Amino acid sequence: MNNVCAEDIQFYDHHPKPADFFTEVLDGLQQSQARIPPKFFYDAEGSRLFDAICDLPEYYPTRTEMKILRDNAHEIAACAGSECLLIEPGSGSSEKVRVLLDTLRPHAYMPMDISREHLVGAAQRLSNDYPWLDVHAACVDFTAPMELPYSAAGVKNVAFFPGSSIGNFERADAVAFLQNLCTLLGNNGGLLIGVDLKKEPAVLNAAYNDAQGITAAFNLNLLTRMNRELDANFDAEKFDHHAFYNESLGRIEMHLVSQSEQTVHVGKRKFSFNSGDSIHTENSYKYSVDGFRQLASQAGFEPAAVWTDDDALFSVHYLVTASQDG
Ligand code: AVI
Repeated sequence: MNNVCAEDIQFYDHHPKPADFFTEVLDGLQQSQARIPPKFFYDAEGSRLFDAICDLPEYYPTRTEMKILRDNAHEIAACAGSECLLIEPGSGSSEKVRVLLDTLRPHAYMPMDISREHLVGAAQRLSNDYPWLDVHAACVDFTAPMELPYSAAGVKNVAFFPGSSIGNFERADAVAFLQNLCTLLGNNGGLLIGVDLKKEPAVLNAAYNDAQGITAAFNLNLLTRMNRELDANFDAEKFDHHAFYNESLGRIEMHLVSQSEQTVHVGKRKFSFNSGDSIHTENSYKYSVDGFRQLASQAGFEPAAVWTDDDALFSVHYLVTASQDG
């Protein structure tokens, strides 16, 4: 691990292994239901499209969560206590945390991300905008077990995991991820986590099928990315975006559906699609408040508080780590 001080931030580099796009695509496309993990949406264009999704009128999660955080910042601060170490796994641009910083006044902020470049840029911008804030940035694969690169005696560890990113994990993976987080936080730790709620399917279907077609472009961009980075020859005109709420599984599914019989190559490998065959690109699980609490309890967390908006679209939970002393 490298530990360097870049201008005003502490930087810890665990040298995480980047995901192997080629191997994961080849493996996913040969499954009986072809699939590609959603983490591959986020190249530069995918990240730009995702930011545009967050501003769409149909996509309620981002603005609703921000309002919940803003409206309840004092109660959240009371839960987290004064001067915690605020840890954000998958911090990306570290934008959402800004709504909490002035009220929370943490001992230090630890953004964690696999992308070194984004992490350092975002940490430095935050440090410039909040000169009083001690920033300890960690370049890590936050989905794998690890130890905290920095901690301080008597300081409570509180993780922040907004955006309902937990919804993109399969349930077993969500439990495993939360278990790792629980161990990382240690005794008396806290987790502030945003979770999208189950609701009227029409509202969910609209959120993933926006009128401007931005979500469709986000989904289809995966094909363009494979063409560019994996020497593939997908014709994006021959695939359609398909997103729907699967009520029995409690999740939005996103697929890319082949519009004709076609053969596509990825590098030297060939894949055939019949008309109607799909590549499953994302699940976005929706939870009830109790359903999420049950999931979190399997990982060792106990519920402490929950906030929702007036329309019960979105929830923000504060969970605490159950005692890990045997
Ligand atoms: C990042 N994640 C929580 C988003 C979601 O709602 O599942 C990704 C997304 N996919 C389509 N629209 C947004």
